[in-house]
This record gives sequence, structure tokens and C-alpha cells, in this order.
Amino acid sequence: MARVLSLFTPSGRPTLGNLLGALHPSAQRLGPDASRTDHVYGISDLHALTTPHDPALLNERSLELAGLAVAAGIDPARCVFFRQSAVPAHTELSYLLESTAYYGEMHRMIQFKEKSARQEAVRLSLLTYPALMAADILLYQATEVPVGADQSQHVELTRDLAERFNRQYGPVFALPRAVHPATAARVMDLAEPSRKMSKSVDSPGTIYLLDPVDVVRRKVMRAVTDSGSEVAYDPEGKPGVSNLLDILSACTDVPVETLSYASYGALKRDTADAVIGLLEPLQKRYDEIAADRAELEEVLRAGAEQARALAEPTLAAARKAIGL
Ligand code: ADP
Ligand code: NA
Repeated sequence: MARVLSLFTPSGRPTLGNLLGALHPSAQRLGPDASRTDHVYGISDLHALTTPHDPALLNERSLELAGLAVAAGIDPARCVFFRQSAVPAHTELSYLLESTAYYGEMHRMIQFKEKSARQEAVRLSLLTYPALMAADILLYQATEVPVGADQSQHVELTRDLAERFNRQYGPVFALPRAVHPATAARVMDLAEPSRKMSKSVDSPGTIYLLDPVDVVRRKVMRAVTDSGSEVAYDPEGKPGVSNLLDILSACTDVPVETLSYASYGALKRDTADAVIGLLEPLQKRYDEIAADRAELEEVLRAGAEQARALAEPTLAAARKAIGL
């Protein structure tokens, strides 16, 4: 039986990229016949501690992301939905996996190299992050982990650690694999379409999910296009125009091939309308959810209880196998 695990990190304000690339595909996986424990979804607040963070904001960011996830269709009644830091088994198993992993393999992770190169004071947790991510996955005996290409290496490492642990100490963990959602669009930055839109990068080309709709429209109308005036889908030669076509297609479910425009202006207007058409109802649902903070906290508390019930037998087996 498959169990899917996906956690969302509250490391910034969620973007249109996070919605189309992660939240929507996760929501779409919650089919009507799925049992609740087939999908383990959550807010990975501990992962937000691997890079500089604002302690006064972290809890707000976590609740905001949880509210947006629910508003985007991640129905807590149809999955296990919780906050990572509410389940201490994550950090405990992470330590057992740090004691299974080697310094060299952590140090070789491409994401560590890239992120650490950009910082002066690199937190040790940035290096050990893949052990915590492995714990997130292995605690729930998850078999499928939907990730972007940049996280595939961490899922591979998780699998290696699970195999090594099982071989050295006994069969405790299911072996997970990375899956790449077929429906997920890759959204590029509107101001700099050569790189992906990211909540971790401050750019005028980032659309935040809670941007007022007039701000969204302005950002789309100011999107960088390309020299020339022909609207053609060519991600290499015309990255700006192609990104708008991709976004329009993802927001409207109309295939890119069937979109046809006479001018950049018309394409931008329709793209702005489509993005706003998606964000306006999302923001309305979010406002309702955010208005009842106690209810959202209760949803997360109940989810953490379900998560603990799934995690504890695995942690107990891992402790016993390793000799504790
Ligand atoms: P960010 O770069 O915004 O901080 P993360 O690296 O934390 O995003 O990724 C969170 C999830 O959102 C992942 O599943 C990732 O694939 C997805 N995601 C992030 N940015 C984009 C994007 N621009 N287009 C599509 N999916 C994205
Ligand atoms: Na990130």
C-alpha cells in the first residue's frame, strides 16, 4: 500500500509557485476513496530553522501556511495534517539517522553546497537537514515522496539510510521513492524568468498568494517579456512569454498548445485574470480560516495526535534495533 508524505516549509510567504507546484498537486491526490492515513501532510517548521529566521514570525508563518494549505484544498479530514515540531519523534529519529549517516554524504548534497555558499554563518542544521528530512519520511513508513527535482537527491539519501539501517540493525523502515507530480507546473520569476519563482528570494517578480489582487495584476502586467512581439511557446528562446503561457495554462487547465495570442498585452491581461481568478477564492477561504485561529490550532493539534500514533511504533522499533 502506498503512503504519500509531503511537508511544506514556512520559510517565507508562500508563492504562486508553491501553489501550482506543491499545494494543488497535493490536494489533487486526496481522492474520494483514500483512507486518511494514505496521505501525511504537514508544516515542516523545524526545517525553517536551517537558515536565518525571525523567531517573532515563525509561528505566524506556520499558521499562515497551514491556513493556505487548507484553503488550497488540503482537507484535514482526508489526510494526517500536522505541524512537525508538535511530534518530537521527528527530532529523535533524526538523531538516530545522523548516527547512521556519514559526514561525507551529507557534505556532498548539492543543496547544502549551494545554500551554504550563499551564507556567512552556516547553521549546522543546514548540513544535517537531510537526516531530519529522512526522519520525516521514514517515521511514517512513507513510500512516495512528491518532490521537485532539487529534492530528489535527499530522497535518494533517505533510501540509502533506510537500507543501511535495516541491514545493520534489522528491518525497521519501508523504502521510499521520489515521485514527480505530472500536473505540477514550474513557475519562473516574472521579473527574471531564468530562475524559478521562490519564497526564499525577494523579487518584484514573485506573486505571493496573499498579495492583494491589484498588486497581482500589476506584477503580471510588468512581467519581463522578450524582444520581438510574436507570442510563441519557446522556453529557451522566449522564457518570459513561455512562463506566462505556462502560468495561464496551469491556472485555467487549458493546454499551452491551444493558447493563441496576437499580442503580449492581451496575453498578460488574460494571465492576470486567470491568476486572480485562482487567488481571489483562495484568499476568501483563507480569510475565513484565519478568522478562527483557535479552530486552525485545534485542527493541527488533532493532526499531531494522529501523526504521533503513526510515528511512535516506528520510533520504538528503531530505538530497539539500534540498541537503546
Ligand atoms: P521556495 O523556493 O519557494 O522556498 P521550496 O524549495 O521550499 O520553495 O519548495 C516547496 C515546494 O514548492 C516544493 O514542492 C517545490 O517543488 C514547490 N515549488 C517551489 N517553487 C516552485 C516554482 N517556482 N514552481 C513550481 N513549484 C515550486
Ligand atoms: Na526554499
